[in-house]
Amino acid sequence: KTQSLKSAYQEDFLIGTALGTEHILERNEKANVLIKREFNAITPENIMKSQLIHPAPNRYNFDLADKYVEYGQKNDMYVVGHTLVWHSQLPTFVGKIKSADSVRIFMTEHINTVAGRYAGKINSWDVVNEALNEDGTLRKSVFLNKLGEGYIKEAFELAAKADPNAALYYNDYNIEQPAKRKGAIELIKKLQASGTKIDGVGIQGHWSIKTLNLKDIEDSIIEFSQLGIKVAFTELDLTVLPNPWDLRGADVNQRFAESPEMNPYKDALPDSVQTALANRYTDIFKLFLKHRDKISRVTFWGVNDSHSWLNGFPIRNRTNYPLLFDRALEPKKAYQAVLNLKTAK
Ligand code: G3I
Repeated sequence: KTQSLKSAYQEDFLIGTALGTEHILERNEKANVLIKREFNAITPENIMKSQLIHPAPNRYNFDLADKYVEYGQKNDMYVVGHTLVWHSQLPTFVGKIKSADSVRIFMTEHINTVAGRYAGKINSWDVVNEALNEDGTLRKSVFLNKLGEGYIKEAFELAAKADPNAALYYNDYNIEQPAKRKGAIELIKKLQASGTKIDGVGIQGHWSIKTLNLKDIEDSIIEFSQLGIKVAFTELDLTVLPNPWDLRGADVNQRFAESPEMNPYKDALPDSVQTALANRYTDIFKLFLKHRDKISRVTFWGVNDSHSWLNGFPIRNRTNYPLLFDRALEPKKAYQAVLNLKTAK
């Protein structure tokens, strides 16, 4: 039997990847062979975001989303929907809405139409994405501003009604960090206290080999699961590059892309960093295995290094190496390390 991430971790949790358009349309054979061999869960990196799937008031682009769902079903994968309510990547018409009623109508029709279309075919929905600020308060958005904090409950109720079988998740980044985690716990407790269905929390997991904080992650797994919900790691990747905010304050400018200091591994990743990456992934997966009973899924945010958003954020045109497969779609040392945790004798 061929070794793969999904078979190695079969008894533990699902192993997923985010798919781009080229994967959904099966434009790259090597990538698609890899995806089918290694992963048993998929998330659409962009194509189900409201701006793309719902570009105008009564217009929906279901083409790619239909193909995405078919891809998952055909390959017997756990299919994630990402995402129903998010302040970002909104269709432009939403920004022009003036009244609370119209925002409510948009949100209601959007959830009913999108979640309704795929009812029974999506295993879990990221119902609300990134609703919190770093200090744990609720983030300003068209939804919060017009509907008040009750929009979160409304969104979960609409999703539950539109697709009663999907697991419903709250998804966010940095919620392993104490202040934001506290906000997430409050948000979830409020939903539960009002009798609203919520099945899990998605900790995105956009981390760095330098600043990875295992204690925060472990505390979060424990505290979230004490709420009686599942924990998923929904967008895992580990940047190996310097963070411009650490070095130069918040003045993130494209000119940094030209600076060798900001793009130090342009041609290749040195062995020492390759090893550091493998070691950090080992630490993370050891922790995940320790808490396997609480974790439903671990999804990487991208298939391989060339397809990662981290080549373009927060500085454009860098060369990053955050995933388990390299630019040639070959497994890296970090892949072997994650696999070895389960298969080495
Ligand atoms: O498709 C257009 C293309 O036509 C155009 O020429 C090009 C010029 O910039 O932009 C392309 O769209 C980009 C899109 O990715 C597809 O590549 C958008 O500008 C860009 O903003 C978008 O970035 C995505 C980002 O979310 C914003 O939606 C990233 O790919 C995606 O990885 C990222 O994913 C998010 C999760 O959804 C939520 N959590 C954080 C995570 C990382 O930011």
